[in-house]
Amino acid sequence: MTALNDLVYTIYVMRRAAILALFLWASAILARSTTSAQAPPAGVIQYAADGALVRPADYREWVFVSSGIGMTYGPTQSAVSPGNFDNVFVNRASYTQFMNTGRWPDKTIFVLEQRRAEAQVSINNGGHTQGALVAIEAEVKDQRFPGGWAYFAFGAPPTLAATAAPLPMSANCYSCHKASTAVEQTFVQFYPVLMDVARRMGTVRSDYDPSRKP
Ligand code: HEC
Repeated sequence: MTALNDLVYTIYVMRRAAILALFLWASAILARSTTSAQAPPAGVIQYAADGALVRPADYREWVFVSSGIGMTYGPTQSAVSPGNFDNVFVNRASYTQFMNTGRWPDKTIFVLEQRRAEAQVSINNGGHTQGALVAIEAEVKDQRFPGGWAYFAFGAPPTLAATAAPLPMSANCYSCHKASTAVEQTFVQFYPVLMDVARRMGTVRSDYDPSRKP
């Protein structure tokens, strides 16, 4: 009888082990499918049905890259002092990759936000602070565009557009961003923290000449 009891017990233990294994396997599968269902989308870039870029609502929660004030370029542009501030933001996942590689991954998006420079605000009696929004522009690295990059202008309040079609390749955004940038088509030479990374990673363009003016 004890032999039979032993056999029954062994079968019982084996069944339990099998059920446990099945349970663990099923929960692993379930965990994987829920993780992928909850995983964030591959990027934060959103296109409307007609291919226009949707103006990102949350770009102020991305990584703030740097700002410039009153930046002008080229012989024809006069410097009106102090000019506007511009604030540059990039999506977080791409920023992280840049910090590790010195390159922008496909599906990177930048927002350039221009704001008026204000003086004498509140207790301030020197220098400038940022004021009203003047314009929002964007730049996207995405293989869906010829050349891999596209530029967008959403205009200015009160008629800030919800979406913007890619500007035509003849727009000066493309030529200036191709000719005068330090890393790929971005002005990393004006973003000190990123420029250090690009130098360290050796990703500064070989044709980048800091002394050249357009
Ligand atoms: C004459 C050169 C020039 C032209 C033309 C130009 N940009 Fe730029 N752009 C710059 C510079 C310089 C910066 C760096 C800004 C800073 O440091 O604040 C910049 C930065 C940007 C950025 C931030 C990411 C980056 O590439 O560094 C965006 C987005 C951008 N520009 C969009 C545009 C769009 C859209 C147009 C066309 C409507 C345009 N730009 C035309 C010179 C130019």
